[in-house]
Amino acid sequence: MSTVVSYDEADHDAHRARQWLSGQARDPGVSRAELIALGTAMSALAAADDGREPVALAAEPVGVDPGIVKPLDPALLTPRDGNAEMRWEAMAGQGYVVPNDRFFVRNHTHAPRLDADTWRLRLYGDGLRDAPTRDAPVEFGYADLRALPAVEFPALVECAGNGRHFFASQQDTPAAGVPWRLGGVGVARWRGVPLATVLRRAGLTADAVDVMPEGLDPPYVTGGVNLGRVRRPLPIGKALDDVLLAYEMNGAPLPADHGFPVRVVVPGWIGISSVKWVGAIEVSTAPLFSPWNTSLYRMFGPGRPADGGPADTQSVKSAFELPWDARLTAGVETTLTGRSWSGAGPIDRVEVDTGDGWQPATLVGADRDGPWQRWSTRWCPPTAGRWTLRARAVDVTGRGQPDRAPCNDLGYLFDGVVRHPVTAV
Ligand code: MTE
Repeated sequence: MSTVVSYDEADHDAHRARQWLSGQARDPGVSRAELIALGTAMSALAAADDGREPVALAAEPVGVDPGIVKPLDPALLTPRDGNAEMRWEAMAGQGYVVPNDRFFVRNHTHAPRLDADTWRLRLYGDGLRDAPTRDAPVEFGYADLRALPAVEFPALVECAGNGRHFFASQQDTPAAGVPWRLGGVGVARWRGVPLATVLRRAGLTADAVDVMPEGLDPPYVTGGVNLGRVRRPLPIGKALDDVLLAYEMNGAPLPADHGFPVRVVVPGWIGISSVKWVGAIEVSTAPLFSPWNTSLYRMFGPGRPADGGPADTQSVKSAFELPWDARLTAGVETTLTGRSWSGAGPIDRVEVDTGDGWQPATLVGADRDGPWQRWSTRWCPPTAGRWTLRARAVDVTGRGQPDRAPCNDLGYLFDGVVRHPVTAV
């Protein structure tokens, strides 16, 4: 295994982070098992070194994947490099939200087992009154958050790389990373406290510009470089707008895989912003940087700025609630169902092409302003053989889905029309 280079927490210099990562982050060079073992060791060492209270780690997670706690039922989820992708056919006949048992999982290392009684949220930085330090932060316990006025709403969490598979399979512009089809997404009803409430109670100052939540999962080590704990800054405007510190998911306490006891939920933004197992939040009067907004989760590639373009708001996508290579009966009319979504606003209209041109789909359900839109259409496969189904949507801001998604090195924000193969027999 390559030598571990310590990431200097005090130095958030974006340029150096990019230098470390060029040629390293994109070719990890160590196995996932090694990363997990190393990450766990680093986590314990980091806690011991800096005198912080050690993270409350319980027994190793159980489950099919060593990094995921819930059982991975193959009818509901497809394992992908230590993550789990929702099977779209598992949403057929379901209600508006994705049940917790089939909600996709994306982990940089593995789910820590945290104890809500000892968990603390620590806020620090010069964007708070009296500039509390990381060592002497403003603290909230789990019961403190539970005692604050709660809100609950449906929000979509989607991996920035959702749809990455199609850059390779449809466009011949492959990108390294988890090869998600369209199941790296889900909508849940999240209950918790607005981040704005907690920031104000912690003493938010008028000149704060950025807020950076940080997870309690083990530090992420890639290519021998320790990038530290998962963290990504949010501008104060977004942080005060609709961001939630969530402790419930679909009416149940947050499952371990989805951030127990508390996670951040950032509606409309790429999933990395929704930091799970949040333990600390830095509030700053100067812009904040981490590898997750400088080297990773940015749009690099031909025609883009040398330091990459921002990747924040999710793109428009549409998916059929069908297995890949679904089998249908020739000559028998069937109802095709699916969902479309956009990070920029509700979906305005959806069209489906079953082989003879684009036709409007019927929008289903009363949740027309929600984070995704259910739809259906009728189709009778005329003859036996292979068919291609396509769906595309336009959101209320006018953003739609091109035939071909603009490529980028890391395969983010795919928005192209997906060609879904089916066989009529
Ligand atoms: N937060 C922490 N602490 N560690 C992580 O690895 N993964 C991020 C985000 N929050 C991650 C995290 C990414 S890339 C995504 S897409 C979402 O969590 C996935 O959330 P889910 O696993 O609950 O579906």
